[in-house]
Amino acid sequence: MRTQVVIIGAGPAGLLLGQLLHKAGIDNIILERCSAAYVLGRIRAGVLEQVAVDLLAEAGADARLRAEGLPHEGIELLFGGKRHRIDLHSLTGGKCVTVYGQTEVTRDLMQARADLGLTTVYEAVNVQPMDFEGEHPRVRYEKDGEVQEIACDFIAGCDGFHGVCRASVPKDRMRCFEKRYPFGWLGLLSDTPPVSEELIYAHTERGFALCSQRSQTRSRYYLQVPLTDKPEDWSDAAFWAELRRRLDPEAAERLVTGPALEKSIAPLRSFVTEPMRFGRMFLAGDAAHIVPPTGAKGLNLAASDVGYLAQALSVYYQDKSDEGIETYSAKCLSRVWKAERFSWWMTSLLHHFPEEGGFHARVQEAELDYMVHSLTASAALAENYVGLALH
Ligand code: APR
Ligand code: PHB
Repeated sequence: MRTQVVIIGAGPAGLLLGQLLHKAGIDNIILERCSAAYVLGRIRAGVLEQVAVDLLAEAGADARLRAEGLPHEGIELLFGGKRHRIDLHSLTGGKCVTVYGQTEVTRDLMQARADLGLTTVYEAVNVQPMDFEGEHPRVRYEKDGEVQEIACDFIAGCDGFHGVCRASVPKDRMRCFEKRYPFGWLGLLSDTPPVSEELIYAHTERGFALCSQRSQTRSRYYLQVPLTDKPEDWSDAAFWAELRRRLDPEAAERLVTGPALEKSIAPLRSFVTEPMRFGRMFLAGDAAHIVPPTGAKGLNLAASDVGYLAQALSVYYQDKSDEGIETYSAKCLSRVWKAERFSWWMTSLLHHFPEEGGFHARVQEAELDYMVHSLTASAALAENYVGLALH
């Protein structure tokens, strides 16, 4: 078998890349370790920057997003028992974000790929990128007990944080930067109306909380919890009671509770691999970098990476030029590090760090107060939250 680009991983990064390459006339095959149902069962974040919305439109997978996505022109910061609105729209000269679940993005991209009859091999076992440092890369895998091999021009490693692509690169060829935070997020999804029209990011002495949403009738809430907690430790009633304690009186009063459709704990981590290209293999999305979810940047970075990659490969095939390929890593990393900085900053500002003591807590409160009263500081938050421009 032969194709131009083998994409490893059918998460949002791999699926979006597949669409963008197809639109540019570049053949591709996607290999995914899990089943389609398993991929769609994962509940993830849900805030899209305009850059991601535009790429989904370019990919021809935005019909439902346009119909059902919720444009948000502001967010609320809750601290000292009061909510303060950050007017994203006016602070950025008219920009906003779109609230639409990553699971739905994945579903739409899968459907668009199926409609075009493009090949995705689900439940591909022992996927192995090979010979990517030379001119003739290959990818070997097993399907239904048989070993298969695909010859290709390029390999796109879109296989997430635990994938095989980054793991196949010799350690001395890359540098990794990592920061782990001493807490996790316990998430709960429920068919209840959101407590507020806009997202609420809450900083309290009991820990951080986030009120998000998927639609007018489906909510997504998060609580900062110790890393030692397990989802089984938290009954639905305990979750709702703790969330209520972290809200202001008006929101606590309005909160509608209901049974959890899903409950899970995710650790918070910052991670970057440099570079993002190794010969003829590119890393994109979570395979190359992780951000803590506080800044809502994970999916958006995956989208901008594959936007750059599709552009680089189009230039290669159309103009017979290596320029895009050679600048891919630096271009991505420049945007990645800015999103890493913003996500780290939002995380540091909003969470409770018990081991840091009272001085740290007072400085956080001062910064929050400064933030919502200074136009310059609010504008910097808004500019980053809606997403920096592609260059
Ligand atoms: N072989 C084939 N597929 C693999 C392998 C492997 N060895 N390892 C992992 N995969 C698949 C996973 O099963 C998954 O479906 O790669 C896919 C990676 O998808 P994601 O983890 O969703 O990563 P990405 O597409 O980069 O999306 C980034 O997801 O985690 C969130 O916050 C993150 O929003 C961001 C987005
Ligand atoms: C979500 O809706 O899941 C969500 C929203 C905003 C974030 C993180 C997660 O910052």
